[in-house]
Amino acid sequence: MVRLQIALGVIITVVGLIVVAWIALNEDANLARRDQEILARRIERGAVLFEQNCYTCHGFNAQGVPGLGPPLNDREMLEQRAKEVGWPGSLYTYLVRTIAAGRIVSTRPEYLGGKASDPNAMAMPPWSEEYGGPLRPADIEDIALFLQNFEEFPPELLAEIATPVPEEGEQPPEQGEADVDAVAIDLFTQLGCLGCHALATVPGAVGTVGPALDGLGERAASIIADPAYTGNATTPEEYIRESIVDPSVFVVAGYPDVMPKGFGDQLSEEQLDALVQFLMKQ
Ligand code: HEC
Ligand code: HEC
Repeated sequence: MVRLQIALGVIITVVGLIVVAWIALNEDANLARRDQEILARRIERGAVLFEQNCYTCHGFNAQGVPGLGPPLNDREMLEQRAKEVGWPGSLYTYLVRTIAAGRIVSTRPEYLGGKASDPNAMAMPPWSEEYGGPLRPADIEDIALFLQNFEEFPPELLAEIATPVPEEGEQPPEQGEADVDAVAIDLFTQLGCLGCHALATVPGAVGTVGPALDGLGERAASIIADPAYTGNATTPEEYIRESIVDPSVFVVAGYPDVMPKGFGDQLSEEQLDALVQFLMKQ
């Protein structure tokens, strides 16, 4: 009898231990899974923030844009870069720090576009609000996680961003006018204006680096009438044209002078006209 009790006791203890160990293991697995989920969500959020703020200079798929920004789509290359500039910490901290504080002094003039000869040219503006940029520290961390775990955007997402979808019930504009608008919307998308400027009539135009361009046609007249205006335009059309080809002659109050300076050389006269006419109607 005594022996049976001892045997039962041993069995119960062993079973108990196994159950406890099993629960503990599962708990660990649950925690790990939850951590994975949180990480995945943060990476996804970083991808969206990247698409909204960074692709103008670094490309939709972080493949880089000649003259504007280097590629960021290769972890090994970024690790190499961190070493080159003498960064003592991890790749993650290099990313967070570079994005937050920007790159006030260029390390590679080939990415300064037309500004290489300008001694005050800034390579990349700061992004964290701690340095006067538009993003919160948590946003920067999520973008760094995204770049560290880089994966290309799926083609559907790119197509969705690049193709304007007309609003339901919207009147189709006159033929000639529709062509000009389509050209302008294409340019606004491809040249990355939408990464820095919000504009209700262009899908995906949600940038916050520059002013929203809604109502610009009406606003332009009062801007040039303002004594604070430092440019040369005398009509709203001229103002919009000047803002695109020569953004530094007048810098809108409250914004940094970071709009790319090369659009004047990049655009044909017809393309520039299409953009100006389109923006006049906003
Ligand atoms: C106005 C153009 C511009 C925008 C917009 C921009 N960058 Fe940059 N970025 C640059 C340039 C130019 C460099 C290279 C600077 C250099 O080499 O000195 C750079 C460098 C970097 C680097 C360092 C890469 C390396 O090779 O050392 C990182 C990381 C980076 N950018 C991330 C971002 C992120 C994230 C965003 C969006 C929040 C962003 N950038 C938006 C222009 C831009
Ligand atoms: C890297 C960010 C960036 C990109 C890309 C960019 N802009 Fe800008 N833009 C700005 C900023 C910042 C300002 C405000 C400061 C200034 O006046 O230069 C501005 C100002 C303007 C203004 C004057 C707005 C006003 O309220 O008076 C116009 C018009 C304009 N941009 C059009 C464009 C067009 C069109 C494109 C694409 C061909 C473009 N921008 C691309 C950042 C950008």
